[in-house]
Amino acid sequence: KIYNVIMAGGGGTRFWPISRQATPKQLLNLSGTDTLINETIDRVNKLSCKENSFIVTNKIQAKALKEITEDRCLKENILKEPVARNTSAAIGYAAFNIMKKHGDGIMCVYPADHFIKNEEEFINVLNKAIKVAQEKDKLVTIGIKPTFPSTGYGYINFDRQSDLYSYEVIEFVEKPNFKKAVKYVESGEYLWNSGMFVWKVSKVLEDFKRYLPKVYYKLEELSEYIGTEEELEMIEKIYPTIPSISVDYGIMERSNDVVVVPGDFGWNDVGSWDVLGSIFPTDNNGNIRRGETITIDTQNSVVYSDEKLVTAVGIKDLIVVSTKDAVMVCPKNRAQDVKAIVEELREQN
Ligand code: GDD
Ligand code: MG
Repeated sequence: KIYNVIMAGGGGTRFWPISRQATPKQLLNLSGTDTLINETIDRVNKLSCKENSFIVTNKIQAKALKEITEDRCLKENILKEPVARNTSAAIGYAAFNIMKKHGDGIMCVYPADHFIKNEEEFINVLNKAIKVAQEKDKLVTIGIKPTFPSTGYGYINFDRQSDLYSYEVIEFVEKPNFKKAVKYVESGEYLWNSGMFVWKVSKVLEDFKRYLPKVYYKLEELSEYIGTEEELEMIEKIYPTIPSISVDYGIMERSNDVVVVPGDFGWNDVGSWDVLGSIFPTDNNGNIRRGETITIDTQNSVVYSDEKLVTAVGIKDLIVVSTKDAVMVCPKNRAQDVKAIVEELREQN
């Protein structure tokens, strides 16, 4: 059996002001066609059926998520965390749910907010990873050839000898500093961790117990109540006490049983405003425009409007975003710093 688990509980600050705590990136229509979450669900449902596909989100986002995804996901398959406790808790919680409700099988884990260009190749790579997880009982991650020294990703070095589409991971380094990232990319020996994982439910639970026992035992205690009347009350009580650590630091960096299946399917994690133009279709002048806009002599810019008419003349390489309650303007090469605004706002509140 194959299970899909979509992690959709991250905050996200870099698409402020359109991304907020209750409406993070995955719930936005950045492509101009549909939200990233819906595109993710439609894509992964091709690997399994709706009954076996789960979304892990949190209380704040659940309502908007349900409205946006409509009938793409079964209501009972939307797992709600009372508070965010990072990706290890989200994955562990999903694993216990699956084990309890359906039994062991292959669990494919995906971020909710990535863009994938070549869906056919994606399915192809995932099917390989599923085969590896099934036959070798390893933790499988999908690796992407790096193109720049990002400090926001995990890096994977691997044994060059392949066995059944996969390579043994020698070293997994989550979010290295810039110096290391440069070294890794220049060496040509590392892949980026795509943040997509494939493993048996039983295997990942075994590694939780071994490498993240504190997370494991809390979730095990909680799992006693899954499907009972006390479930809600107990999750409110237990979940906040789970240590907050990502699966990358908690398990992928520590486990000796990690293998990588390389994938090349036009992957992009849509990290900030400036990358939209290189992922999604632009107008003839390289602009991304959303909502009601008029642009004259405007090039390589992002002009986004929620409700007002937004106009621009003679601008270049700028991001202009207008929503009901905020306007944000910044040059494209400062797009990473939008999160500083969010931090500033948090301090003021
Ligand atoms: N349910 C739930 N609960 N989901 C969460 C939580 C949580 O507490 N925290 C994060 N997520 C979701 C996010 O919404 C996203 O879809 C996914 O889990 C990954 O979280 P990010 O916060 O976006 O992780 P990252 O981008 O810093 O790093 C990960 O992805 C990189 C690739 O984009 C790591 O896996 C890196 O190693 C990887 O390179
Ligand atoms: Mg991410």
